[in-house]
Amino acid sequence: MFKMNKRMKSAEYSSNFESIFKCPICNSSMKVFELKSLICSNNHTFDFTKQGYINLTAHPVKTKYSKDLFEARRKFIVEDGFFKPLSQAIAETINKHAIKKETISLIDMGCGEGSHLSNISDTVSLDYNKIVMGVGIDLSKEGVLVAAKNYTDKIWAVADLANTPFKDKQFDVILNILSPSNYAEFNRLLKDDGLVVKVVPQSGYLKELREVIFDEPEKQSYSNVDTVERFNGNFQLVDCSRLCYTVALDNPAIQTLVQMTPLSWATSEEHF
Ligand SMILES: C[S@@+](CC[C@H](N)C(=O)[O-])C[C@H]1O[C@@H](n2cnc3c(N)ncnc32)[C@H](O)[C@@H]1O
Ligand SMILES: [Zn+2]
Repeated sequence: MFKMNKRMKSAEYSSNFESIFKCPICNSSMKVFELKSLICSNNHTFDFTKQGYINLTAHPVKTKYSKDLFEARRKFIVEDGFFKPLSQAIAETINKHAIKKETISLIDMGCGEGSHLSNISDTVSLDYNKIVMGVGIDLSKEGVLVAAKNYTDKIWAVADLANTPFKDKQFDVILNILSPSNYAEFNRLLKDDGLVVKVVPQSGYLKELREVIFDEPEKQSYSNVDTVERFNGNFQLVDCSRLCYTVALDNPAIQTLVQMTPLSWATSEEHF
């Protein structure tokens, strides 16, 4: 019997939604070709990888995020359940604001290793009975690769959130979790009644870790005031909620936490 490999499966899944894509080089429409590639009407061709993601950047980009950071992030989210209250709160918000829709198109901008998108999609479909079409994009190939390896039935693409390979007004919900934003692009992609869910840290986020890593008091806490103001200047605010919780971590989990955060880029040996 003919058995499909991962590349073919993700090409087949994407072919159900091929009308959302536009070519990152010439902006024309794209089609899935022979369960292998996405090709635009001017023959620009992007192959699905064997892990099941597709690279839709016009030029290769190197980022500071490593495979190890994303693996640690995945462990922390999936095994240690660190962000569970967050994904549940987001799923609830999506349900509240898209209550009448049976099918929801969801894109996670700066999805990293994909666990947030996967958890949120699962909760929205299992707890709230909705069909979810999920797309995760990130500039880091390392992150998208870990996502595609672990989660099927999603479109995973290496792409720049400031210049995405999708047509206008394709998404009901844009997720933007602890990642940079580009509001002109978010506005372009969002349907007229769409929702942007942005997660920013509060001043206490990872406070205990910041206090160990940084000597300067001003770096030991974080202010989100400018980010929140910029968001409010671009969108009509429908809801804003604070989520505060403390998680007790054992030693292995503390090590994973240190590996999963970009804060670790600032660390030097003597702190640990
Ligand atoms: C702190 S991580 C958060 C990742 C994920 N949302 C999470 O919470 O686990 C920030 C992410 O933003 C991505 N990123 C930064 N600039 C980007 C861009 N221009 N386009 C797409 N992703 C970008 C990084 O590669 C990284 O994965
Ligand atoms: Zn093209």
